[in-house]
This record gives sequence, C-alpha cells and structure tokens, in this order.
Amino acid sequence: MVLVTGAAGYIGSHVCIALLDAGLDVVAVDNLCNSSKASLERVQSICGRTLVFRHADIRNEDVIYDALRAYGVTAVVHLAGLKAVGDSNIRPMTYYENNVLGTMRLVSAMKRANVKSLVFSSSATVYGIPNYLPLDEKHPLGPTNPYGRTKLVIEEMLKDLCGSDDGWRIGNLRYFNPVGAHESGLVGEDPIGVPSNLLPFVAQVAIGRREKLQIWGNDYATPDGTGIRDFIHVVDLASGHLSALRHLIKPGVLTVNLGTGNGSSVLEVVRTFEAVSGRSVPYEVKERRAGDVAACFADPTFAMDALGWKSTRSLQQMCADHWRWQLQNPNGYHGSELPKVRERPRHLHRRA
Ligand code: NAD
Ligand code: UD1
Repeated sequence: MVLVTGAAGYIGSHVCIALLDAGLDVVAVDNLCNSSKASLERVQSICGRTLVFRHADIRNEDVIYDALRAYGVTAVVHLAGLKAVGDSNIRPMTYYENNVLGTMRLVSAMKRANVKSLVFSSSATVYGIPNYLPLDEKHPLGPTNPYGRTKLVIEEMLKDLCGSDDGWRIGNLRYFNPVGAHESGLVGEDPIGVPSNLLPFVAQVAIGRREKLQIWGNDYATPDGTGIRDFIHVVDLASGHLSALRHLIKPGVLTVNLGTGNGSSVLEVVRTFEAVSGRSVPYEVKERRAGDVAACFADPTFAMDALGWKSTRSLQQMCADHWRWQLQNPNGYHGSELPKVRERPRHLHRRA
C-alpha cells in the first residue's frame, strides 16, 4: 500500500493512475487547497479500481500516522506542496510552513509508523541559474525564489535524516517542466485563475478563453530568441515515480532528474500546439519576465542508469494530450459531470 500526498493535484492524480495501473493499492491524502476531489473520482474511473481518499493536511501528524497504520502503508510518495513561484515571493512564510513544516510532520509520522521509504517531489528550480547545460544532478544548487528554497531545504533535511538512520530509503526527484495530460482527457492540469505557466496559457488561448499569449522575451541567446525549456509529459513523469519506488533498495537519498533532455523553445511549443489543435494561437512579444533564464534542460542519463527510466513521449504528444484535456474540460473540473465509480468492499482496501 502506497500513501500519496497531494494525490488530487495535477501530478498526484497521474501518479495515482501509474500506481493503480501497476497493481499497487493507494491511500490518497490531500487537503484540496489547490485541487478537487473530482480528479480522484476520474482516476478511479480510468483505472477501474478504487483508492482510499483521506481529506487531510500533511501538517496533521496524528492523522497521517493513523492513515499509515490503518492501511498498512509501506511507502510514501510525497507531492503535497504549494508551488507558485510568484506567490512564494509575496507570502514566503506560508510556503515554508506548508512545504517544509508539512514535510517535517509527514516524516515524523512515518518514523513513528516505521515507514521509511519515501519518494519526494523536488524541482529543477533548485539548480537556479544554469552554469552549464544540460543540467546534471551534480550541478551546483542555488534557487532564486522562496518556493525553490523550500525544496532545497527539504532536500537537505532528507539527507540529514538518512545520515542519522540507515533505515531510510529516499528518492528525490527533480522535475523539469511537466505538461500534457492523461490520454483519456479525463485528468489534467486545472490552474486557478490566470495560468502563469506556458502550456495552460497556450491551451486557453487556443480554445478562445484568452485573447492572446504574451511571449516573455524573444531576445535570448537561443536559436529563435525565445526561452528554451525541458517539457516532459506528465504521464512519463508519473512513471518515473513508479520506477523510483522500485529502486528504493539502498539506504540513503537517490537524487534524480526527471526530464527528457530535449529543450524546446516557446515558439516551438506555440507552433506545435497550433499544428495538433488546428487552432491559431495569437501572441505578442513582451519584455522578459523577471527571474527567467534563457535555457534550462536536463541531462537525463542518471535517471536511466539509476532507475532504468526515460521519457518516451514527444512534444507533439504532450500538446495533443493537453489539448484533448482542454477541449473536453473547458472549465477544468469545475461544474463537470463526474463519472460514476463502483466501490469495492472496504476490506479490500487494506493490505497487511
Ligand atoms: P498541485 O497544486 O496540482 O498539487 C499539489 C497538491 O497538494 C494539491 O492537490 C494540494 O491541494 C495539495 N496540498 C498542498 N498542501 C497540502 C497540505 N499541507 N496537505 C495536504 N495536501 C496539500 O501541484 P502539482 O503540479 O501537481 O505539483 C505536485 C508537486 O510537484 C509539488 O510539490 C510541486 O512543488 C512539485 N513540482 C511541480 C512542478 C510543476 O511544474 N507542476 C514542477 C516541479 C515540482
Ligand atoms: C516555472 C517556475 C518553476 C516551476 C515551473 C513549472 C519560475 C521562475 N519558474 O518554470 O519553478 O517548476 O514553472 O511549474 O517561475 N512563457 C511565456 N508566456 C507565458 C508563460 C511562459 O512566454 O505566458 C515562457 C517563459 O518565459 C519561459 C517558458 O515560457 O521561457 C516556460 O515558462 P513556465 O511554463 O512558466 O515555466 P518555467 O518558467 O520554466
């Protein structure tokens, strides 16, 4: 039984699908501060299996402890967290409280329940401004915003934890830019308000919800002048968590980049999205966005060596799947009809 924190969120819902499809049982924990339970109903519908949902905050150590014990959990995938870079500049302490304190409480509950296998969602943002490309795991760390620093603090904390007790096995996954959606179009990213990330914004322009895209700068030292990122399909990313869980064999922290190794420019994304959707994506070029770097992409070699994992989905597929999700759910999960799920008897959720 695997407990997934942040399970109702964008990446969490896809991780739950990967785990359920692999035959694992899942306890999904989420406080729904940035998500809807509808995502988990759809996860169950896609997989034809049920999961256990606990509406809980990871900062509530006793509740997490009870869930770990009640369901015989053997490993945790920890995705719960606040993730908006701009917001983290405005209310940094909220980010430290939620992300850092939340992880401390989660880890305390795990220690009490003697569950010492953990996969953690870190971010490529911990690298800060690249000194060289592609970014390998040995690149110096230097996040440039409070959100990124919460991830770095947690990484360091988890290393110290492993140093103190060789019972712990921790996978520390540094995601690059997750995009796309499950091929069913039933689950995907459902940003609240105006999206700050590229793909959700492009998709909302394509469907006519927004007039045009603002491209933040076309004077970077890149072939077409726009920023380059390592976009990775969220389904590939989710399968990386399954690989990580299966490779938690040696004590200590295993830090791995989850990226494709391919950089795509903003204009390339716009053109690809137009091609797969058959819609036009009007844009205007604006000043560079503060804090952006020209290019950022992963060296994914170690992920292959350490986890036997690599991404397989192309930028075309990322855009096509993102578009299907957008078309089928123009308002995200809000106001949409939920597929019915047949419940299994409760005792089947438990595994010794
Ligand atoms: P998301 O906001 O869709 O999902 C996070 C989930 O965590 C949400 O469902 C939210 O309700 C829940 N949550 C937050 N605080 C909680 C708490 N205290 N207790 C219980 N639940 C809580 O975000 P996502 O894109 O799915 O990201 C998942 C993780 O991956 C985050 O930790 C994020 O920092 C990390 N990450 C995301 C990206 C990205 O681009 N999406 C990139 C790198 C790393
Ligand atoms: C941002 C976060 C990063 C987080 C990631 C995924 C910052 C500094 N970094 O990365 O921590 O892990 O999101 O959630 O915010 N762009 C436009 N117009 C738009 C939106 C984006 O031109 O409306 C461009 C950006 O300038 C950038 C590229 O698209 O060149 C990707 O942007 P975005 O999707 O926001 O991701 P990152 O900035 O890489």
